[in-house]
Amino acid sequence: MDFERLLAPIKIGNLELRNRIVFPPIDVQIHSDDRRVQQRYIDFLTSLVQKNGVGLVISEFTSVANDRFWMPASRIDSDKFIPGFEKLVEEVKRHGARIFMQLAMLGGRAPKGKRIAPSAIQSPLYPGVPEEISRDEIQWLIGKWLDAAQRAKRIGFDGVEVHGGHSYLIGEFMSPHSNLREDEYGGDFEGRMRFPTEIIRGIKASCGSDYPVGIKFSAFEALNDGIRGAMAVDIAQWFEKAGVDYLHVSSSTYMLGGTPYPDVPPLFVPEGPLVEFAARIKKRVSVPVITVAGIVTPDFAHTVIAENKADLVALGRAMFADPEWASKIASGREKEIRPCIRCNMCHKKMIIDRAGEVECTVNPGLLKPPLKPSHRRKRVIVVGAGPGGLEAALMASERGHDVVLFEREDEIGGNVRLGCIPPFKSDLKRLLDHYAWRLEKSAVKFIPSQEAHAPEILSKAPDAVVVAAGARELIPSIPGIGDKRVMYAREFYRSQKLHKKGEGRVAVIGAGTVGCELGWYLSILGRKVFLIDILSFDHWLEEEHPTNRLTLLEKLEEWGVNVLDNATDLSLEQGGELVRLRRDGIEYGISTDIVILSAGYTPSESLFNELRARAEGEDSPAIYQVGDCVSVRDIHWAVLEGYEAGIAI
Ligand SMILES: Cc1cc2nc3c(=O)[nH]c(=O)nc-3n(C[C@H](O)[C@H](O)[C@H](O)COP(=O)(O)OP(=O)(O)OC[C@H]3O[C@@H](n4cnc5c(N)ncnc54)[C@H](O)[C@@H]3O)c2cc1C
Ligand SMILES: Cc1cc2nc3c(=O)[nH]c(=O)nc-3n(C[C@H](O)[C@H](O)[C@H](O)COP(=O)(O)O)c2cc1C
Ligand code: SF4
Repeated sequence: MDFERLLAPIKIGNLELRNRIVFPPIDVQIHSDDRRVQQRYIDFLTSLVQKNGVGLVISEFTSVANDRFWMPASRIDSDKFIPGFEKLVEEVKRHGARIFMQLAMLGGRAPKGKRIAPSAIQSPLYPGVPEEISRDEIQWLIGKWLDAAQRAKRIGFDGVEVHGGHSYLIGEFMSPHSNLREDEYGGDFEGRMRFPTEIIRGIKASCGSDYPVGIKFSAFEALNDGIRGAMAVDIAQWFEKAGVDYLHVSSSTYMLGGTPYPDVPPLFVPEGPLVEFAARIKKRVSVPVITVAGIVTPDFAHTVIAENKADLVALGRAMFADPEWASKIASGREKEIRPCIRCNMCHKKMIIDRAGEVECTVNPGLLKPPLKPSHRRKRVIVVGAGPGGLEAALMASERGHDVVLFEREDEIGGNVRLGCIPPFKSDLKRLLDHYAWRLEKSAVKFIPSQEAHAPEILSKAPDAVVVAAGARELIPSIPGIGDKRVMYAREFYRSQKLHKKGEGRVAVIGAGTVGCELGWYLSILGRKVFLIDILSFDHWLEEEHPTNRLTLLEKLEEWGVNVLDNATDLSLEQGGELVRLRRDGIEYGISTDIVILSAGYTPSESLFNELRARAEGEDSPAIYQVGDCVSVRDIHWAVLEGYEAGIAI
């Protein structure tokens, strides 16, 4: 495919962008403790622009009023915060991209500090009832937005984006759900739009009418009386009249999850779920429209532009996963793109855990210094071609070592090969294809269909061994578990003949992520599914990102999976044909054709332990253990530990 339309220049106001690819605002959590922009953020955006060739970068949300309202972001509410930004702007522009600053405030969603909102109401948006913002405070805040925009202009930003999306303060004013005011800043559509309109008009008046101003806003809110449908178009047209130079069409917030239109969409929803909103808006306005959210593949991005559904496409996570996304398509190397799997680990780390810098599952080198080649070429053996072993082998090879990779199956992928079978997990399949491509072009010697054992490994006198042997099934103590109709989740996935569409009754025991996905998949295949777990439904998938969690749980309901939570006294009878259990004191007997166990996994540690026991003395190799064989987790940890082992050797 040629990507001519995607790569064609476009104007925002009078400002020309070299193409239609945007890196949207992404808070990567590397500002300093006193909320100044850091050199590492400058380096991150600079290298992204340098390698990538995007047209426009919108910098991460930046606080306009941190002096009064807490926000975990860099600040632009005083001149003293200007210096780092000057460097950022200079570097980004030097590499041919344009850069806008996103100006923001949290409002009622603030997890700490003074929490203000248009109305003091309870809402699923808010951690507690916020204070109703006074009219004086509104005026003061409008002033803060204007001051911030003027600073951005003085610094040299090509424009500013007002953050009215994701149900932060401005979005709260715009939404009939959260704005119940009766003064001129609420009451009706015009009243609800007054606060952002005064900000936009004020910026235009103070920075000059030709200074580009855009707005990011939610075209859909999964809330009672939330923004949807025609109202989103009315908002867009209103902003156009108010003078914005572009519209950045997003949706509400990850906290609401489980909607078909999440702001940070997980792999369970189709690519680009918000494009339909942008397309509807684009038909009714003449300023450029940016579409964002869950767009990862070049073909999809190009089709959006080619079919006139939007004027620009923003790709955030896709460019975390591959910071060369745009330059690869520009140079005909789109097949080389490392795909984002929309696992939302990056977002979870930033928003939920607040556990330091953002990381990417498939790109463990994100925000890290470039790799250095090794001083000495070493002989490396890697055992297991799941994500952990693949990443370790490829990294070690890239650094110049001689690498042999053993895999007992005839294909690469480990659990990922099974995990990508359901149709709603095609993002994972792309990752697998990417690893296959990297492996093929690498110097790694891949030996499939061969189980590696400690004596043979050591007999080859390697300098280093990486064990990435994965995990074994946990066997729950359930009477009757050995029956012939009982199988493990991985066995089911391996057994092609069971994947045909057809009727039948299946009990899935264990409602972790694997069990829930399996329940959904089996329903798609036409089976009547009983998903059984000892935990109460409210606690299912608690470790997952909220949007991933709620989407998956809602799919169970949508597809009619029978949820049997709080299940105790489980036993299997009549060769697995009857599953007995007790819930709230009531006994149940469920007749089934097949029982699938998904009760978790335990690390396969034996190879590592044997290698350690046998390899003693000065000549013994360095032995590393990565991924699920250390502790059973997910792709993120397997890849990260594989990467770290690969660069430690
Ligand atoms: C059905 C399913 C779906 C999943 N979906 C997701 C998901 O959507 N997102 C996510 O993050 N995680 C998911 N996971 C978990 C994720 O796949 C694992 O955490 C991850 O694959 C662990 O990687 P690994 O390399 O440590 O081990 P594995 O992927 O298990 O790979 C280990 C490999 O080592 C090989 N091996 C073992 N011993 C030897 C030996 N002695 N010689 C040669 N080869 C050997 C095995 O054959 C296997 O290929 C899923 C897991 C399952 C079971
Ligand atoms: C780690 C992370 C941080 C984000 N920070 C911001 C932000 O500061 N401002 C903003 O408007 N959106 C933010 N977003 C949302 C993105 O701009 C974008 O709307 C969303 O990620 C969907 O696009 P994508 O699928 O291309 O990543 C963030 C998203 C992620 C994953
Ligand atoms: S962490 Fe997951 S969702 Fe985030 S960019 Fe990486 S692959 Fe995509």
